[in-house]
Amino acid sequence: MFITDDVKYVGVNDHEIDLFEGQYDVPNGMAYNSYVVLDNKIAVFDSVDARFGEEWLGNIRGVIGKKAPYYLIVQHMEPDHSANIVNFMTAYPKATIVSSKQAFVMMNQYFGTDFADRRIIVKDGDTLSLGKHNLTFIGAPMVHWPEVTMTYDSTDKILFSADAFGKFGALDVNEDWACEARRYYFGIVGKYGVQVQNLLKKAAVLDIKTICPLHGPVLTDNLGYYINLYDIWSSYGVESEGVVIAYTSVYGHTKKAVELLAKKLKENGCPKVSVTDLARDDMAEAVEDAFRYGKIVLATTTYNGDIFPFMREFITHLTEHNFQNRTVAFIENGSWSPWATKVMMGMLEGCKNLTFAENNVRILSALNAESTAKIEKLAAELCK
Ligand code: FEO
Repeated sequence: MFITDDVKYVGVNDHEIDLFEGQYDVPNGMAYNSYVVLDNKIAVFDSVDARFGEEWLGNIRGVIGKKAPYYLIVQHMEPDHSANIVNFMTAYPKATIVSSKQAFVMMNQYFGTDFADRRIIVKDGDTLSLGKHNLTFIGAPMVHWPEVTMTYDSTDKILFSADAFGKFGALDVNEDWACEARRYYFGIVGKYGVQVQNLLKKAAVLDIKTICPLHGPVLTDNLGYYINLYDIWSSYGVESEGVVIAYTSVYGHTKKAVELLAKKLKENGCPKVSVTDLARDDMAEAVEDAFRYGKIVLATTTYNGDIFPFMREFITHLTEHNFQNRTVAFIENGSWSPWATKVMMGMLEGCKNLTFAENNVRILSALNAESTAKIEKLAAELCK
């Protein structure tokens, strides 16, 4: 794949993977992107997952033939991108690795060598000329690990953005960018909104025509669309108006309450109601929705003196990812001593700028006239 006359795609698609990063369901696979810059000094950007070393080196040979790369630029050391560094350095014994100081520490940890005699350490603002192409390195700590360095090619106006602007899904599957980019962002980078904001400030002064991430498609048109979404996501803003109802239900009574609330919300004109069963639906989708919409209802049972485990897991994901700036309502169910709302509120205590609804609902085993009326009040409150 040609990105510009000099920049070629040499990444791979992974349709074998069951869970990305050991936890994310990726029904359409995953892409590990890698790029070659053809110049007097040929540079390769990042390697690929361990299982695709031969294919990746073959892709590089397909572009450069018998020539040898001068540099391997390592922007990120997570193994989905770094696992074939040693194979590359063996295949090209004269190549030099260009990376951050912390990345070389990680190479020592992963590979038992930090390539001391075959490396160039770069930091934010450093430059490297390949001949025609001039590269500037951009420190991007915690997007998504501390050693991350991105790269701007001022000749072709390309931002090599490491994990930023990536998404789940292999490149031979045609699907909407935002849906799987949002699930990827909030699952993987979401905690680091401040650091992404810092990166966006650095990127704002660059003339960028193309973004080359390490996952997902190369972005060329309408870059403002992607950058604007990253700005909303990383500032924990509300992307879409609507209400998310995340629930667990043991025997169906809490589910019945949730269905009634969803119906009443729609009757009250709520623009979007997204309902998710935390025991059965994709947890990462639920997390993504919690950060997408401005209002969320958490509905669960009191369970073993606590709350139902899937709800505990969900709220832990939210708090770990800096959940904030939202309206939150609760539905609790209990046949004796219901206290799920108290537990859920306690879990959210450290979150910034949450507004709690006034009409939280208590169900004693099953809906009755009183709890049904409360649900109607909650629906009205959330649609104000
Ligand atoms: Fe795609 Fe943070 O690794």
